[in-house]
Amino acid sequence: MIQSSSSPFLQYAETVRTEIDEALDRYTLYDDDCPSVLRDAIRHSLLAAGKRLRPLLVLMATEACGSQRQRAMAAACAVEMVHTYSLIHDDLPSMDDDDLRRGQPSCHVKYGEAIAILAGDALLAQAFETIAAGIQPPEVAVRCCHELSRAAGASAMVGGQVDDLQAALAAGNPDDLERIHRRKTGAMFRVSLRLGALVAEADDSMLAALDDFGRKLGLAFQIIDDLLDVRGDEGSLGKSTGKDAEQGKMTFPALLGEAESRQLAEQLIRQAQEALTPLDSGATNLQSLAWYVLERNH
Ligand code: IPE
Ligand code: IPE
Ligand code: MG
Ligand code: MG
Ligand code: MG
Repeated sequence: MIQSSSSPFLQYAETVRTEIDEALDRYTLYDDDCPSVLRDAIRHSLLAAGKRLRPLLVLMATEACGSQRQRAMAAACAVEMVHTYSLIHDDLPSMDDDDLRRGQPSCHVKYGEAIAILAGDALLAQAFETIAAGIQPPEVAVRCCHELSRAAGASAMVGGQVDDLQAALAAGNPDDLERIHRRKTGAMFRVSLRLGALVAEADDSMLAALDDFGRKLGLAFQIIDDLLDVRGDEGSLGKSTGKDAEQGKMTFPALLGEAESRQLAEQLIRQAQEALTPLDSGATNLQSLAWYVLERNH
């Protein structure tokens, strides 16, 4: 969760985060045929204290392109549904085997592996239902579904997760790792910005600027995630630390050391901020979010 603060950006982010949380709550009431254990498992993971970075990017991109953020709320929630599904599956014993997520027991710890897998499956499906039903006009909804499905799929997020599990630290180099991070994490950052721009029916130059911003921000974000796994505090992170080294994961701190990894993240954030130049003052909140990604401790 983004902590409240007197900074106007953090206050704004907190307001938007509350809107996102309220919408996610409405989307998961399931007063129909959904089994109660599935509803509980989905809500346990989805409504927990996530930072909501990806939906914030969707909504901020929409605003940066001159539209009302509420128009993109369904796309923002869809991205968070895909992201939360990916976290539920990422924590499974057959993947990273993590017991703690968003400050509480991981989905499989509380509900068992089978229900956790199925909760992830349901969230993935619901993401596309949410866009199809909630984004107008229909041509934009189709394009959003197309782009989100690619970003979540075999050649992007899921492919990156496969390579993350199989990568051998000893044989790896920074280019291989960048390829993993670009897909397992970067693709969802990029698509968040693209969906926001698509809903606002932004022109190609704005879309390209946001895409470039997302590419650099996404990589910087995962480098910081890797650094927090080494140095972060479990209490504030809400997830366990030291797991990457324990599991022999290929990460930037493991390959380059902590100081060089931090420098790389800082350089990427500067480049990300420069990429926003064509959007001018419309992108002030995105500039601040990039700073937040670098300075965060959770
Ligand atoms: C964690 O993402 C998974 C990664 C891609 C590293 P976040 O750090 O954005 O997790 P939440 O959504 O705030 O829980
Ligand atoms: C997870 O990366 C990426 C996705 C869920 C797609 P990590 O495995 O590094 O994320 P954490 O550290 O468990 O949050
Ligand atoms: Mg993982
Ligand atoms: Mg993990
Ligand atoms: Mg990690």
